[in-house]
Amino acid sequence: MEKKFGLIGATVSHSFSKSYFDEKFFREGLRDYHYDLYSLPTIDDLKKLLEENPELAGLNVTIPYKEQVLKFLSNIDADARKIGAVNVIKIQEGKLTGYNTDSDAFFDSLKKWFPVKENSKALILGTGGSSKAVQQALKKMSISFELVSREKERGTHTYKSLEKDGTPLADADLLINTSPLGMSPNNNTCPPINYDLLTPNHYVYDLIYNPARTLFLQKAEMRNAHIKNGLEMLHIQAEKAWAIWNN
Ligand SMILES: NC(=O)c1ccc[n+]([C@@H]2O[C@H](COP(=O)([O-])OP(=O)(O)OC[C@H]3O[C@@H](n4cnc5c(N)ncnc54)[C@H](OP(=O)(O)O)[C@@H]3O)[C@@H](O)[C@H]2O)c1
Repeated sequence: MEKKFGLIGATVSHSFSKSYFDEKFFREGLRDYHYDLYSLPTIDDLKKLLEENPELAGLNVTIPYKEQVLKFLSNIDADARKIGAVNVIKIQEGKLTGYNTDSDAFFDSLKKWFPVKENSKALILGTGGSSKAVQQALKKMSISFELVSREKERGTHTYKSLEKDGTPLADADLLINTSPLGMSPNNNTCPPINYDLLTPNHYVYDLIYNPARTLFLQKAEMRNAHIKNGLEMLHIQAEKAWAIWNN
């Protein structure tokens, strides 16, 4: 029986998800399974997409809809509810259930890479859907964190306040970019922080995976910081989504 899956977001043409699932379906002999990319101008276009594609069995959700999609769901898994963001939807008999696999995927990939100490401190750039997933993972690992936002109300710090006093950046063991700055095709942008404060003691993680080495990671690498991109996290969250769709 034909089964359709896909990714919804504002601009999804640069996503790796389609090739990931196309290769997986081919490898596993799932010839009737398809994965498509759906760019939705607004989240309200989801209703029409579901009406036009009744064979859709599951969706991934990306920027900027991980929070906006909540209002369309009949059920939300307890962890996703706690996080406040959904990146996986399972569709059964027209009913949508939301899950968050970003958080556990980030947790799994960070655990393998970052040497947690008793007083490890993290600084998270951005306060959107994936930032919330990262925050939940850091809580589970007992890593304290602060947020950097463009807006005072949303974060502990703003980029402007860090310009005046860079101590939170200098003191952080782990720096995580959850903003889209530097994501293809905008490869020449990066979060506006003082990269000269980075040292070989810093672990710098960018959730972006395309390009593989964002300007953010290049600037960190130039200061001999440890760097990691979001590709492993993407693969882990995709496998976790697959497990949910087939459960
Ligand atoms: N590797 C993976 O598996 C994986 C998983 C999830 C997400 N991601 C990547 O993570 C990124 C964010 O995704 P998301 O779903 O969290 O998006 P989102 O919900 O739209 O949040 C992004 C956040 O980044 C900040 N931001 C947005 N535009 C900015 C700008 N021009 N300058 C500075 N900050 C800006 C905002 O925080 P403030 O308003 O507080 O500044 C915003 O809330 C994307 O690049 C996505 O591809 C990767």
